[in-house]
Amino acid sequence: MLKKLWGNKDNRTAATYEEYLEKIQKLDKERLPSHVAVIMDGNGRWATAKGLLRTAGHKAGVETLKNILRTADKIGIKTLTVYAFSTENWKRPPAEVDFLMSLFSEYLQKELHAMNEENVRIDFIGKRDELSASLQKQMEEAQDLTKNNTGVHFNVAADYGGRDEILRVAKKMARMAKNGDIEPESITEELFDSFTDTADDAPVDLLIRPGGDYRLSNFLLWQSAYAELWFTETNWPDFTPQHFMEAVLDFAARERRFGGVTNA
Ligand code: FPP
Repeated sequence: MLKKLWGNKDNRTAATYEEYLEKIQKLDKERLPSHVAVIMDGNGRWATAKGLLRTAGHKAGVETLKNILRTADKIGIKTLTVYAFSTENWKRPPAEVDFLMSLFSEYLQKELHAMNEENVRIDFIGKRDELSASLQKQMEEAQDLTKNNTGVHFNVAADYGGRDEILRVAKKMARMAKNGDIEPESITEELFDSFTDTADDAPVDLLIRPGGDYRLSNFLLWQSAYAELWFTETNWPDFTPQHFMEAVLDFAARERRFGGVTNA
């Protein structure tokens, strides 16, 4: 029952990569999610269970991310947004925070060229100002290099929090209203949306969380109002393209009513 409601309870997937791909390629394109968000959870537990340092889990998580980005692009997902570091993750031991920051930097150094060749458009969402100047520079350069690419739009959420984002938008609109640039009555969902970090993207259609926890953890709160949720107990380093495609197929089979009713 849980599997039916939430996604994949087991750590196994039912079919091979090719079988999933074939099923997805047969789908009516309109049934594909436009925007998929992923909470890349379970790296630490994956490593601990193997007697490794938590950082080994994050390293393994990078390999998973590369595979999932490639899969998303291959099956025609327009936007993939991944949660790399939350506004709350600063509470982690300094050594783990430093490791993650170095990993982001190394990822950009090693992967940017390939991502650009593969037509990926990369953006970073979140606050940015507390990240090191050199990482901020790398992020700017990556965004700039890939800004005209037309493949998958890849948003990496770093120092991102959904509530922080909503507050940033609220403050911006309050300043605009104070300066007489907008009328408070003219504020619409569309205007609010245009100031979010994902202004270019559709709202989240499908939100995937590996790692066995059933919560949003402050990720894309505004954008996920009508997202379909898909969970698996599999930890992120063991999450495969098959899991990703299974979630997409599950999404394609769901009925979305957006608060309305189904035509009888
Ligand atoms: C959550 O797992 C994961 C993170 C806080 C970091 C995610 C980062 C990566 C997957 C590295 C790759 C990212 C980029 C952009 C290169 P956790 O540590 O909370 O796991 P736990 O719940 O088992 O402790």
